[in-house]
Amino acid sequence: MSDPLLTVEDLAVTFPDPDGSDTRAVDGVSLSVEAGEIHGLVGESGSGKSVTARTVLRLLDDADVSASRLAYRGEDLLAKSEREMRAVRGDEIGMVFQDALSALNPVMTVGEQIAEVVRHHGDVDESTSLLSELRRKYVTGTSKSTASWRRAVELLETVGIPDPEQRASEYPHQLSGGQRQRVMIAQALAGDPSLIIADEPTTALDVTVEAGILTELRELCADFNVAILLITHDLGVVAQTCDHVTVMYSGSVMEHGPTDDIFEAPAHPYTEGLLRSIPEGAKRGDELATIPGSAPDPRDRPAGCPFRDRCPEATEACTDSLPEHALSAEHHTYCHHRPHEDGGRDDVRTSPQPER
Ligand SMILES: Nc1ncnc2c1ncn2[C@@H]1O[C@H](COP(=O)(O)OP(=O)(O)OP(=O)(O)O)[C@@H](O)[C@H]1O
Ligand SMILES: [Mg+2]
Repeated sequence: MSDPLLTVEDLAVTFPDPDGSDTRAVDGVSLSVEAGEIHGLVGESGSGKSVTARTVLRLLDDADVSASRLAYRGEDLLAKSEREMRAVRGDEIGMVFQDALSALNPVMTVGEQIAEVVRHHGDVDESTSLLSELRRKYVTGTSKSTASWRRAVELLETVGIPDPEQRASEYPHQLSGGQRQRVMIAQALAGDPSLIIADEPTTALDVTVEAGILTELRELCADFNVAILLITHDLGVVAQTCDHVTVMYSGSVMEHGPTDDIFEAPAHPYTEGLLRSIPEGAKRGDELATIPGSAPDPRDRPAGCPFRDRCPEATEACTDSLPEHALSAEHHTYCHHRPHEDGGRDDVRTSPQPER
């Protein structure tokens, strides 16, 4: 099998604090995203999802980062210079944030913001010198006859914005929340990336608008063969959108595998708790934080399993380590007590699951 598109192995991210109480936001996270798949990264607030995503793009400069591997298409992201990373961001990996209003430039039309990415991606023969960009931005505006503008309008149409020509000339505040998220997706697509990291792209939206955008993401994934790392705290979104899912808790991965396997047979007590707390399976809009208790303080996280204080099955062993068990080639859980149904916890089955 070829290398995954994105490989994260044993990632640790710490925010140093001068008084010594460093925040270990991410503590040994591994995940891999295959080309063209939608991979869900799910976990309750503060579990380290955004920090993981931002670290992949090297957007956190105040953090200490270590990993045994952080690779995109087999290239070490931690070894890249800032200049090389700028080429990765946008051209290779696009990013969509939760709050489009603050992520978009309020004084530029949305068409121009997308056109700018198109020009810098180098698909069109238009000057991207500082002077011409400044002139476009503050003096003349983008000429509507340029290839980059036409491409921007096309992309707005691709992401399902009605009347894209008219919309392209509008400013972010003139659009609805759902349309702004679509603009951000169009902007991410403008660099023709192979991976889009979408950090809670629909959390701020109402349920019907969210459904439309998730459908759009699935279609884009299929039509453009772009992979999506979809960050969410909503199990319903995962169930309806993702091929694979990684469940995080307090900076660590608890379980990962094909979405169907995890929903049908969750292996970690944390994942089981999450699913059990939702009456008829996962429904859109259901929040994750329904298990009694709270996560450990990331400035003082104990050794062993971070979930143990809330876990009905915790034993002495959970205080010292977080062992990995393979239930299949793709479905892994991190727990002393699993798998236990069929044949004891060290009885690791390695037969691959059927492809979804
Ligand atoms: N720049 C920073 N400096 C210090 N601590 C930080 C910083 N950014 C994040 N953290 C801490 O890292 C931990 C993980 O944060 P992160 O934003 O990744 O959580 P999350 O899973 O994305 O949560 P949410 O669902 O609320 O977005 C939190 O305890 C947070 O307070
Ligand atoms: Mg977040």
